[in-house]
Amino acid sequence: MLTAGVEPLLGQVAAAVSEAISRVRPELADADPVVRRSDHADFQSNAALALAKRMAMPPKRLGAEFAARLDSAGGVIADVRVSGPGFLNVTLSDRAVWEAVAARLADDRLGVPVTERGHRVVIDYSGPNVAKEMHVGHLRTTIIGDSLARVFGFLGADVVRANHLGDWGTQFGMLIQYIDEHPESPWHTEELDSGTSSVSALDGLYKAARAEFDADPAFADRARTRVVALQSGDPATLARWGEIVAESERAFGAIYDRLGVLLTPDDYLGESFYNDLLADTVAELVDKGVAVDSDGAIVVPSERVTGPGGQPVVLMARKRDGGYGYDSTDLATIRHRLATLRADRLLYVTDSRQSLHFHLVFEAARRAGWLTDAVQADHVAYGTILGPDGTPFKTRSGGTVRLMDLLDEAVTRVRAVVAEKNPTLTPAELDAIAEQAGVGAVKYADLSTSRVKDYTFDPTRMTALTGDTGVYLQYAHARVRSILRKADTVTPPPIDTAAPLDPAERALALTLDDYGTVLTEVTHSLEPHRLAGYLYTLARAYTTFYDTCPVLTAPDPTRSNRIALCQLTARTLESGLGQLGIAAPQRM
Ligand code: ARG
Repeated sequence: MLTAGVEPLLGQVAAAVSEAISRVRPELADADPVVRRSDHADFQSNAALALAKRMAMPPKRLGAEFAARLDSAGGVIADVRVSGPGFLNVTLSDRAVWEAVAARLADDRLGVPVTERGHRVVIDYSGPNVAKEMHVGHLRTTIIGDSLARVFGFLGADVVRANHLGDWGTQFGMLIQYIDEHPESPWHTEELDSGTSSVSALDGLYKAARAEFDADPAFADRARTRVVALQSGDPATLARWGEIVAESERAFGAIYDRLGVLLTPDDYLGESFYNDLLADTVAELVDKGVAVDSDGAIVVPSERVTGPGGQPVVLMARKRDGGYGYDSTDLATIRHRLATLRADRLLYVTDSRQSLHFHLVFEAARRAGWLTDAVQADHVAYGTILGPDGTPFKTRSGGTVRLMDLLDEAVTRVRAVVAEKNPTLTPAELDAIAEQAGVGAVKYADLSTSRVKDYTFDPTRMTALTGDTGVYLQYAHARVRSILRKADTVTPPPIDTAAPLDPAERALALTLDDYGTVLTEVTHSLEPHRLAGYLYTLARAYTTFYDTCPVLTAPDPTRSNRIALCQLTARTLESGLGQLGIAAPQRM
């Protein structure tokens, strides 16, 4: 394994251009060489245009000076031309491109460096609420968070997957009281063997409890007493609470298994975990002057955000009745992650409606001295999943869409699509592929959309065989694997680096070379759709290559070189889909 990775060709060109710039003008040694891929050559540098003004020189002349001082970077660069207003068009030697393919193929990490080693990244994602079913609102946090956990993990970070379950709060007093008062309820009577069905029962009980709480003041009082019992650790109440949590966790586990996300019970770090830290956290905030008394409550007023009346917006650190809520828990949570877990980076993946909340939590943590400039904290916000009518996705009767139902729908749809495409599959094969492709289609549709945007849940579109879909990418991967099976060759095959490169081979090889750069990009932008977009580009580059360059029938060394490109494509697609948490079946 090469922990340092294979230096991307783009990076090699950028370094060579930087060197040329500093040869021409030593004072510009730190200037950005502005190198990117280009349609006119392999790479293009816009440095002369960017720097011309500073140098009081026409960009074309400056570009010509850079070009004249650009060396071949050890034979990597074959040609440079100044074009248009002063672009440098850089063409690589064929040998350098083949060498990059060979180096990536020889490495089990595809030459991707371990850039995040030594960084502890806490990723807060999924966070469903106990006694409620996971619904469409938990889909995005679960799969975006999981993809980020995979990318950071692949790049060597020490990832802490923090599943901030909503497993604590006054609502549990109400629910427990209701369950105890209703011995006829399904909680007591039904065979609760499948986690999912018992949680639907709980979900119903929760709604019934809420209705009774609102309608019957006497019940509301008994429920409040039960909250006190729970908080003071009454054994019978705690035991019931523990049963409810355990049932819910089983149901969450069933969804996580089906979604193929990394979350396990070891990652369940729910709100209850922070219960013992709340009083101390609030005391510290008061001590430091960050939290103040307000009518008997303790609040953290923002120094930056004001509400409609000009009043500061506050976080509720402790309620007037002495109780703690969502805000209190997040204050204790961020303190724990920074002071105890010693995180280098914090990510919170929730929908964009919680932006203000996290903005305030980060501000409070900064003022308390917990969050320093050495640590980056991000709210990884995302948009809403819409239904066919363009409003937030609901069932036909207006209810919340259960995550399991949504996955079932996609799997059913994709089963039909795959069966039509490949009628020779046995029903068992078809079931297995449909499950992987259906779940993959749902995940890909989400991860390929710009994170902050809303998108429409459209099972027909997301399971299409063509276009930017998970199914298309899985097919692309399976097709390459099928060619490799027919080629029946060693891994990796020998590459003749002296062979000339066909344009489609070249485009494919240069795209393959970008993989690690795109992953790094995802750790900066926290946008998995950039990886999705890259994989789609790669699949299309492969299609063009395959349409124009015969593989199996070509004479050697062309055949062997092309098989090498096929192998690297298959492995890059599989790895890339893997970072999105999407399976890459060998056959479809
Ligand atoms: N349980 C919350 C919800 O369903 C999400 C928790 C997000 N994480 C956090 N640290 N607040 O909205």
